[in-house]
Amino acid sequence: MDVKTSTGGLSEAEVAARVEALVGRMSLEEKIGQFTQIGGLSFFIGPKLEEVIRKGGAGSVLWINDTERFNALQKVAVEESPSKIPLLFALDVIHGYRTIFPVPLAMASSWDPSVAERAQAVAAREARAAGLHWTFGPMLDIARDARWGRIVEGAGEDPFLGAAMAAAQVRGFQGPYVGAPDRVVACAKHFAGYGAADGGRDYDPVYLPEGQLRNVYFPPFEAAVKAGVGTFMSAYMDLNDVPASGNRFLLRDVLRGEWGFTGFVVSDAMAVGSLVTQGFARDGRDAAFRALSAGVDMDMASDTYRQHLAGLVEDGTLTLDDIDAAVRPILALKVRMGLFEQPYADESRLAQVVALPEHREEARRAAQRSMVLLRNEGGLLPLAKSLKNVAVIGPLADSKEATEGSWMVFGHTPAAVTVVEGIRAKLPGAKVEYAPGPEIRRDVVSWFDALNPDARKVPQTPEQAEVAFQTAVATARSADVIVMVLGEHADMAGEAASRASLNLPGRQEELLKAVVALGKPVVLVLLNGRPLSIGWAAENVPAILEAWEPGSEGGHAVADILFGDVNPGGKLPVTFPRKGSHAPLYYARNLTHSPESSPMYNPRYWDGPPTPLYPFGFGLSYTTFSITNLQVAAPQVKVGSAVAVTADVTNTGPVVGDEVVQLYIHQKAGSDSRPMRELKGFERVTLKLGEKKTVTFLLGPAELGHWSTSAGKWVQDAEAFDIWAGADSLATLHADLAVVR
Ligand code: NOJ
Repeated sequence: MDVKTSTGGLSEAEVAARVEALVGRMSLEEKIGQFTQIGGLSFFIGPKLEEVIRKGGAGSVLWINDTERFNALQKVAVEESPSKIPLLFALDVIHGYRTIFPVPLAMASSWDPSVAERAQAVAAREARAAGLHWTFGPMLDIARDARWGRIVEGAGEDPFLGAAMAAAQVRGFQGPYVGAPDRVVACAKHFAGYGAADGGRDYDPVYLPEGQLRNVYFPPFEAAVKAGVGTFMSAYMDLNDVPASGNRFLLRDVLRGEWGFTGFVVSDAMAVGSLVTQGFARDGRDAAFRALSAGVDMDMASDTYRQHLAGLVEDGTLTLDDIDAAVRPILALKVRMGLFEQPYADESRLAQVVALPEHREEARRAAQRSMVLLRNEGGLLPLAKSLKNVAVIGPLADSKEATEGSWMVFGHTPAAVTVVEGIRAKLPGAKVEYAPGPEIRRDVVSWFDALNPDARKVPQTPEQAEVAFQTAVATARSADVIVMVLGEHADMAGEAASRASLNLPGRQEELLKAVVALGKPVVLVLLNGRPLSIGWAAENVPAILEAWEPGSEGGHAVADILFGDVNPGGKLPVTFPRKGSHAPLYYARNLTHSPESSPMYNPRYWDGPPTPLYPFGFGLSYTTFSITNLQVAAPQVKVGSAVAVTADVTNTGPVVGDEVVQLYIHQKAGSDSRPMRELKGFERVTLKLGEKKTVTFLLGPAELGHWSTSAGKWVQDAEAFDIWAGADSLATLHADLAVVR
């Protein structure tokens, strides 16, 4: 049916007609050129860029972040290349372009998909104004191993929360349809399973049974397809011995066959060429053949398609139909994005767009809603604004890089409000002293350091570090209240940023202990992109705020919370293990023969409790809530039908605040063992003092069914379920539900 969407855009038939006209007049080389995404970094093939584009040898360019350069390259494409097809400019705009939002893991902590949607709409507006068309986000990898550095880029450990955040981000980036004004096309990555790397080591192989893939790792990706995502990125690593970028099961059977995805797939960077390095393809020619036939349409930066696809068609290994099938969705995207009508960017626009005050306001609101209060003994927080003498201590307290977080590369200059700046702005009349203490650094450098001036500074000597340590303690000694800002630098989480330990890096814990030993009130603010093992702090520091990497307005948002202008309401989207060696640790585990309540449970490890330090879904507030009256509309529901579940939530404390009501289920028996708890509903509500609201969730076949390993298909068993509602994954308010035929 040829229907224009009510929200605008071209109809399918209009797009198809224009694409066929292009396909009809393009040479084989030009079609293959469209499959080539060329890297603009000088250490790849920078100098040859114009030459390649002039011959029609590139469909897209990445790793350039410069509007004038975009226009110059575009001019070559649309004026000098044979079929004059415009280029798509792509970049990793992960949590903001100029106005930086909290990292995705933080946005997931808001448990408010509208936070992510609004953030990515702002990111899209700025990126599009700069001349970009396409972002390599959202990152949708479920991550249950906190050692894995890229946990920072996703929504955490849970498929249900992950799917909600996935759809919201796609809507934010793309708007109501692909090609909407002021938006960019999104890319669901990294398909699939990347977050389950062996040992949490970045890029390592992944072994995931199909049931795990389908029940846990696929849902955010499927949600992105349902939300209309324009493109997908195939991951690097081996999935069950087949590299994701040569994986037909993923890219053809599931993505296109089952989910009906009609956009195109780009490989991860160099991943087509890497099929050889991975010991999968014999040579470049074999790699090109296997990636294209598996369903990778565009080769990111490895230049393997450009070198080998024509030969494969000439000798009959691939057909022209194979080539046309892969080029159509790429051309369709360019048509939808309006690039043939308007290939150039207005070079004066970015400055106007970036200056929009609502961008900073959105970033501040997103940061406020993302932070998680982990501890508040004796109501130390909120602090009084009448304080006269505050010390802010720690290596991240005045770091713009650490406040903005990962993925701030390609010429971006960090400009965030730091925690020191935020507190000074909040307390204009007070003395706010700052001392960084010893610096923190990675032990092993990252290739990203080439793009990060901060990482290239000369390291402190041990003597300089000792002076910095003593200065920090002395600064703390003369204050009435101390805010410690500790955690991880921006380059300590993200790509190529996995670690074996989850401890606070460097001498931070030692400094924390020395400051706590002064006997003054201490608040710990964490800036980090992964769960950290902060067991000592959890017992000895009265107040802990998980601020994550909060973005441009991060320092203001921290101060808003510390001084009570905002009541924190975020919740953890990941389990905090007690130690790095406990990873992977996640709440939705299967039961074992030895119930958790039995004395047999604790010896899971003989050297300490195996339980989380902070559970999934956890977060405190300056007020208190009670969640009561869990009601399942009917004690039984038929297979295929839905039942409503309601619970009341009341603000029982002293101030207005937000609670996230969470609904968990457990299928007690059936075709397969099912996790002891699974999140199947959540709602963040704001309540005035004494106010009560009823939240309603629906449990239908999507929530009550699962992909069965024993049956090899989707099933909905007629079995008994536990239902819990509460404020975190340890919720105790319980009801029963029976699914019947
Ligand atoms: C490699 C990363 O894995 C991916 O997430 C990113 O989008 C590309 N490089 C492009 O920068």
